[in-house]
Amino acid sequence: MKEKLQGILQAAKDQLAAANDARALDEARVRFLGKKGELTALLKGMKDVAPEERPAVGQLINDVRAEIETIIEKQKKVIEQAALAHKLEAETIDVTLPGEDVVIGKKHPLNIVLDELKEIFIGLGFSIAEGPEVELDHYNFEALNIPKDHPARDTQDTFYISDNVVLRTQTSGMQVRVMEKKKPPIRIIAPGRVYRSDAVDATHSPLFHQIEGLVVDKGIRMSDLKGILELFAKKLYGEDTVVRFRPHHFPFTEPSAEMDIQCYRCHGAGCPLCKGEGWIEILGCGMVHPKVLETSGIDPEEYSGYAFGIGLERTVMGRFKIDDIRLFYENDVRFLEQF
Ligand code: DAH
Repeated sequence: MKEKLQGILQAAKDQLAAANDARALDEARVRFLGKKGELTALLKGMKDVAPEERPAVGQLINDVRAEIETIIEKQKKVIEQAALAHKLEAETIDVTLPGEDVVIGKKHPLNIVLDELKEIFIGLGFSIAEGPEVELDHYNFEALNIPKDHPARDTQDTFYISDNVVLRTQTSGMQVRVMEKKKPPIRIIAPGRVYRSDAVDATHSPLFHQIEGLVVDKGIRMSDLKGILELFAKKLYGEDTVVRFRPHHFPFTEPSAEMDIQCYRCHGAGCPLCKGEGWIEILGCGMVHPKVLETSGIDPEEYSGYAFGIGLERTVMGRFKIDDIRLFYENDVRFLEQF
């Protein structure tokens, strides 16, 4: 009996030492300690043992059982340790591998220049005003000295929501909206979308963008307008930029002018970019018409002001040498990636 037990213990030690996963461990446990296991079989054989020897043999069997159980527990820990080490090894992250590219978009060229423009004017003490694109006829036309029968309505034909509600053709209506709400001193720019029922071609789009500017205070003069706009042109196009003001007509300013910059390609000699003119038109401007001030609730005897309107698309086209306005709206990444 003793030898038999020694044999079982040795066999159990060997098999457990070789067990390198949970399944093998369990197989060994069943083989030696299970209901039909070898030790259990020995216990069943107790009836053949002489009664006086039974306690000693029983004790022996129990000792062996206990020892095997201890070995199983130890081996279980060994297997768990090995599994953990293996897992850690397998999940190691190689931080030197290049990561996957995150594709992010870019600023649209219109926004690149718009943001620059905003920054310039904010630096000059202006703040930003926003207003509706679906606009009352009153703000878009009437309050700007453009009554129903005015010829300016022909060049600014638009999309009518109803007789008195239009898609705004210009940001100039913002002048009136701002003056109605705020008393001078006023110093704002109002960028935004505008609409006209123009057929699409390389230089026309039924939707485009303008930036309106408005300054109203006591004693504002034409020289203030010229100074600020020349400063603006130099900041946007470079310090050596030359500007000129040409008389023009706008119903809501008096006097009115257009500002040109000397062509940055030919420096005034005339080239295809400036269509042989030597100059490129940049914006419309003028002193706010007294009637517009009055309509907006500001006393023209006390206050004066200037206004200007910049076409964003045209500015960006000149800046990046883009020759077709449609490129801005087609969402073709081959175009957009270039900026
Ligand atoms: N709103 C005018 C246009 O669309 C541009 C303009 C001209 C705006 C003169 C002004 C201005 O504020 O003073 O043609």
